[in-house]
Amino acid sequence: MKTALASTIGGRPRTEGSGVRLVSANPARLDEVVSETLLGDAETFAEACRSAKAAQAEWARVPAPVRGRAVQQIGRLVEENKEALARLITREIGKPYRESLGEVQEVIDTCNFFLSEGRRLYGQTVPSEMLDKQLFTFRMPVGVAAIVTAGNFPVAVPSWYLMPALVCGNAVVWKPAEYTAASADAFAQLIMHGGLPDGVFNMVLADGEATFEGIGLALSEGTLGKVGFTGSTDVGRRIGELCGRHLQSPCLELGGKNPLVVMPDAALDLAVEGALFSGFGTAGQRCTSLGIVIVHESVHDDFLARFAAAVERAPIGDPMQDVLYGPMISARFCRRFEGWLGLIQPHHKIYGSSATGQITSRNPRAGFLGDPDAGLYYHPTIVDGVTMQDDLYRIETLANGHGYGLSSSIYTTSPLSVFRFRERVSAGMVSVNNSTSGAEAHLPFGGNGKSGNGSRQSGIWVLDQFTRWQAMNWDYSGKLQKAQMDTADLPADVGFRLSQGEA
Ligand code: UN1
Repeated sequence: MKTALASTIGGRPRTEGSGVRLVSANPARLDEVVSETLLGDAETFAEACRSAKAAQAEWARVPAPVRGRAVQQIGRLVEENKEALARLITREIGKPYRESLGEVQEVIDTCNFFLSEGRRLYGQTVPSEMLDKQLFTFRMPVGVAAIVTAGNFPVAVPSWYLMPALVCGNAVVWKPAEYTAASADAFAQLIMHGGLPDGVFNMVLADGEATFEGIGLALSEGTLGKVGFTGSTDVGRRIGELCGRHLQSPCLELGGKNPLVVMPDAALDLAVEGALFSGFGTAGQRCTSLGIVIVHESVHDDFLARFAAAVERAPIGDPMQDVLYGPMISARFCRRFEGWLGLIQPHHKIYGSSATGQITSRNPRAGFLGDPDAGLYYHPTIVDGVTMQDDLYRIETLANGHGYGLSSSIYTTSPLSVFRFRERVSAGMVSVNNSTSGAEAHLPFGGNGKSGNGSRQSGIWVLDQFTRWQAMNWDYSGKLQKAQMDTADLPADVGFRLSQGEA
């Protein structure tokens, strides 16, 4: 066993903290320990924010194109280590290796986008009401950004926050999910080798409560300019309240119950393929994973028969093999899923597998790849016949009914259906004839209602999270020109007078 992983503050490991050691196992083989982690406490978090604050002003002085080169270097290092990092992600959270490679590619794509944003970070020149005066806008860094992320995308989603935050001239404190400490530590090493000055990037390994308390401390001390959070709606609400008390608006990316609509004119096999990946890819643990398929009654039976057959045939098992999905991320995710299975009623019909619950040698699945008893594997389950009185309906209801609004999908060949759906669905993201998951790294990502507070990540849109606009006016007329009052007094040599209108 290697030495335990610990937080990194100001470029150095910080081993003091809560005294808690967390041991995490490979969810595909529970007897294989992946990492041992020393968890920090609230003070560790606050100290990381202080260290970031001390380093930030100097980092903001570095010209933005040069900051972009640091992001470029990080992207290169990630690319050179793509396979190793993907293998580690698969070992730590059981994500199928091909998907883990995709996740690392998403980091590289994000670096590629933001490295050149350092050469843009455009402000504007704006006309003034008066002669010999010019107006400008500039993007200013927010200062220190605390980034708190979930474990289902242990490197891709963090990169959506970290790269733009850094290129905008902020220092960062990253708090990854404590149960993905090995992937986080590997990514942190690559980031630090990108040449960032000590203190510009810090990583804190801590549990949720210590982090929440640490954010409160840092906000009170005035060391924190932004909180970015990806996780549950409940925690997002608490973070929003806490930030609000300090007059800050966090960037919140919360859960989804994403619908996929199948219209009568849909290409059914395509819709089945999309529903299979949306619903069961990543073992349904993406925030963009499919929650409910809404099928027009004229194609319901046909769609369901094809969907059930596809799910029954799908390869499930060892995530290093070519599988639809592997194990659940950890025992915590298993408990949550078992809670949902508990909502199934006698009048519901179950499809997708001959059994439900955990896949074991005593509760087997035909065609399972690998040893089911070694890990945390679950049967795929489709529930049909849900009525409006069911808890299952109320928890995972129709497209807009549940108040979530992250992603959505419609399968149809009609432009009318596409555009009506786009206009009326509450989701921040809409797929047409495509999966609810799998957003590309340079379009705005985020949701509405219980899925977020309207903030968006990725592409140019996230820049508004990590910068604040500064407006400047420059009067070079040599006299005091008063806005709104002196605007009509144009000098005689300007051959234009605003008509005062007829009485
Ligand atoms: C998440 O689950 O938090 O769109 C992010 C997707 C991925 C990212 C998911 N690119 O499914």
